Amino acid sequence: MERLQKVIANSGYCSRRKAEDLISAGKVKVNGTVISELGFKVDGNDQIMVNNEILSREEKEYIILNKPRGVVTTTRDDKNRKTVLDLIKTNKRLYPVGRLDYDTTGALLLTNDGELTNLLIHPRNKVDKVYIAKVRGFFDKESSLKMSRGVIIDGVKTAKCFVKLKKFDKKSNSSLVEVVIHEGRNHQVKKMFNAVGFDVLKLKREMFAFLDVNGLKSGEYRYLSIKEVKQLYGLVK
Ligand code: URA
Repeated sequence: MERLQKVIANSGYCSRRKAEDLISAGKVKVNGTVISELGFKVDGNDQIMVNNEILSREEKEYIILNKPRGVVTTTRDDKNRKTVLDLIKTNKRLYPVGRLDYDTTGALLLTNDGELTNLLIHPRNKVDKVYIAKVRGFFDKESSLKMSRGVIIDGVKTAKCFVKLKKFDKKSNSSLVEVVIHEGRNHQVKKMFNAVGFDVLKLKREMFAFLDVNGLKSGEYRYLSIKEVKQLYGLVK
């Protein structure tokens, strides 16, 4: 038996807080009866309706994908481009946790667990994302320091972050730079480099939290273990 608000949140319908509001507002029915008590418990056989819609209680799936270049991180694309979901064989309605750009590669988590998704992308939870960027030119110490202290993008300063030059290749005149951020603003890494005068030639997300894509070829994915799912919840609860 589980608390009604937990079951609603776990289904991906909304956050637990929102589920509590819906219950208190009398918007939730269990087996046809309005339940406005927050401690109410249900089991797998109970039919739950929220706002007069039956709640789908499908099994949760958690996937880490090594996203290739040239694929969009949405569930549907109006330009008919290939989406990350086209790469995954499942009958569940999965959705990506956050976004990677069309040309960005690497670690992307997909799940139908709305509660975990909400927690992982909430800025308060500061989940680390590790990126490796290939940038044009020599990435000097001063630019590195500036970036790590925070730069203004779209009028708002970025949080302090970890930045490290890994390698400079004289022949191609490019640098490989590791950046660890916990925010998730639109095109954040590219814009941070632009703010200190560098162009990103390639971008890969090496890790999302503690999850990497080692052993996965581009376009390949694997299911998370129960231990990994618990570890993710442990980070954000
Ligand atoms: N920052 C970017 O600029 N692009 C991404 O895809 C992810 C982070």
